[in-house]
Formats: sequence, C-alpha cells, structure tokens
Amino acid sequence: MDRSPHCICVIPGDGIGQEVVPAAVRVLQQLLPNVNLVPADAGFGCFERCGNAVPTETLAAVGATEATLFGATASPSSPVKGYRSAIVTLRSHFRLYGCIRHSRSLPLEGARPGIDILMVRENTEGLYVGRETGYGDYAEATRLISVSASRRVAELACTLADQAGRRRITIVHKANILPQTCGLFRDTARAVIQAHGGLEVDEMLVDTAAMRLAVNPERFDVVLTTNLFGDILSDIAAGVTGGLGVAASANMGAPGPALFEPVHGSAPDIVGRGIANPVATLRATVLLLQHIGEQQAATALDRAIDATLAGTTRTPDLGGTATTGQVVDEVLRNLETGIEGRGAMTTAGGAGR
Ligand code: NAI
Ligand code: MG
Repeated sequence: MDRSPHCICVIPGDGIGQEVVPAAVRVLQQLLPNVNLVPADAGFGCFERCGNAVPTETLAAVGATEATLFGATASPSSPVKGYRSAIVTLRSHFRLYGCIRHSRSLPLEGARPGIDILMVRENTEGLYVGRETGYGDYAEATRLISVSASRRVAELACTLADQAGRRRITIVHKANILPQTCGLFRDTARAVIQAHGGLEVDEMLVDTAAMRLAVNPERFDVVLTTNLFGDILSDIAAGVTGGLGVAASANMGAPGPALFEPVHGSAPDIVGRGIANPVATLRATVLLLQHIGEQQAATALDRAIDATLAGTTRTPDLGGTATTGQVVDEVLRNLETGIEGRGAMTTAGGAGR
C-alpha cells in the first residue's frame, strides 16, 4: 500500500464541506501516509472572496492531480450575476460526463436489506447546461441532449456494469412527454447497451421510477438516466439507504482527473455544530481510493465504515449523538482493528459493487 506518493486535490468548498472533508483527510492520511494533498478553493464563499467560484488555480490543481476530493457548494436559489455552481463548472470543464452513485443497504439498525443500486447519470448536459433566460413574465431553459453525450455515458454504464458483475440496466426517461430529448437519450442508450451485449436492458418513465425507488428499490440493478432526473432519483436512492449523510458519488469520464464527493450539499441548517455525518465523504474516499488503484486501502476503509455504522457511534442524522470527530475516531479505530485483527488490508474486492 502507498507505494508511490499519490497526488490528490482537496476542495472542502462551502458549509459542512469545511467539516467533512478535513475529517476524511485524517483518514486518507492514515491510509496513505505519503499522500501529497493539494488544497484548492471553490464554491460560493470563494466567489464572494475573489469573484470566481472556480479560480484558475483551482482548475490547474484539479487538472494536475489524479483525483479530487470535493466537499459541497452552496448555490443560491436566486440568480447571482457571474455565479455558476462550482461543481457543475468542474464537471463540464473536465468532461466528467458520468456521475456514479451507488446506494446499497448498510448495516444500520432497521435498514431495509437487499438494495444495491448503481445509478449512472449523464453529468454534462440536460437541463444543467445553464442556458436560462428570463423575459419578465416568462422564462425558459434549454434541455440539451446529444447522441455523443448519451452514447458515452451509456458506454460508461456498460463498463461499470461489467466490472461489478451486474446484469441489467434500466434506462429512465420521460419520452412520452419529451419524445425529442428523452427519446434521443433512450434510443441511443438502448442501442449502445444492445450492441455491448451480455446485459439486459429495460426502461421506465421517471415518475414511475421515482415511485418504485421509494417502494420497491430492490428491483433495480443499474439505472441510467439524464442529468436532472439522475440528481433527483439518486437522492431518493440515498434516502432509502440511510440518507444524505451516507451517500457518496464519483464524477468521471474523459481520461484524466476524476472527482469524488458526498451527494449532499452544504447543509446550512447544521453547519458549525460539529454534527455533520462524515460517512458520505468517507465513502466518497473509498471510491477515490479505488480509482487511484489503492484497492486494499479502499476495502479496508469500506469495512471500517460498515463496522462503525453497525456500532453505536453515529451522528444525529442516523439517530446517534456522536460528533463528526467522534465518528472519524471510531473509523480510525476500526481501521486499526481491521489491519491488526482481521487482515482487512490484504483482502481486495467487494467495495466496487
Ligand atoms: P443539503 O444536502 O445541504 O441538506 C439537506 C438536508 O440533509 C439538511 O437537513 C441537512 O442538514 C442534511 N444533511 C446533508 N448532509 C448531511 C450530513 N453530512 N450529515 C448530516 N445531515 C446532513 O441540501 P439543501 O439544504 O437542499 O441545500 C443546501 C445547499 O447545498 C444549497 O445551496 C444547494 O445548492 C447546495 N447543494 C450542493 C450540492 C453539491 O455541492 N454537490 C448538492 C446539493 C445541494
Ligand atoms: Mg443532488
């Protein structure tokens, strides 16, 4: 483990990003003592300080490192001249065209068993291209869908499905109302999956998918969908598997840097209280470790997180009374037990599915 000094960019961002990212960095440094961390600034606070949500130096830092650990941004719900969400900017700048969110049943008391969903969301277009115009008493937004972006994200879904030994991809769309945009995405994705071979493909309207994810999430294997739908559906999938405090995501695509983040935002309602759940960011760190080829460290961390969740040291969002720091202390303790007692560091696999 930690053969070569990896270079990781670290962007805490706004709100609880400033709490959960330093917490995850403690764990990262324990696992990879020689890791080279490159801190960078981004987000709304950064925009207020320097007039740019993603400064040039941040783009350079992300571009120069193998992977980025990102916290959260706080995007205001009313237009602010010159501001665009930092995470959306980073995704499009680095052509991180797939957002991957894995929701599985966790060893939490009362958790519903049997859920294991890999959601693959197109990450660069759809309604999130940010082409919005207000005309006084009406406003409009562009929903861009292209064959090239639909194809590459469908290919990514096939690759990830193969790697994780998954069998079925469900394409989620709303082609009955939006036959041009959703129809193009559905037809392109279906053709890619069929040409790939070896995977079942089915499709579902997004409203039905939302209901089924809430009621019958066990029926899903891989879900492939467009940007806004994926944003919403992955929060539902997070909700049925422990909530936003435990849900992680990977942004990947073109060869080059990838970016890992918790699914949650800046959580202004709990910021500064020391009770933000660090598990989502720790699980994002597991994905980051897998991405940089540190599979043993990834597996060890995944197990240490599960052992922590199965215990009593939990933050209030999971019904506990622990602080962010106490959860991290417990994860570090479980890591040590895993290393010394169970040989977890020598066993690869498991975390990817
Ligand atoms: P949010 O995800 O920040 O919070 C939603 C609820 O979940 C809140 O009650 C919060 O306390 C709770 N929560 C979230 N993460 C938690 C954690 N780690 N531990 C314990 N509880 C946690 O979403 P919200 O409130 O809708 O948005 C707040 C800001 O975050 C907005 O400005 C929004 O634009 C931004 N946002 C940024 C995202 C990103 O950076 N990728 C994603 C979602 C929202
Ligand atoms: Mg979201």
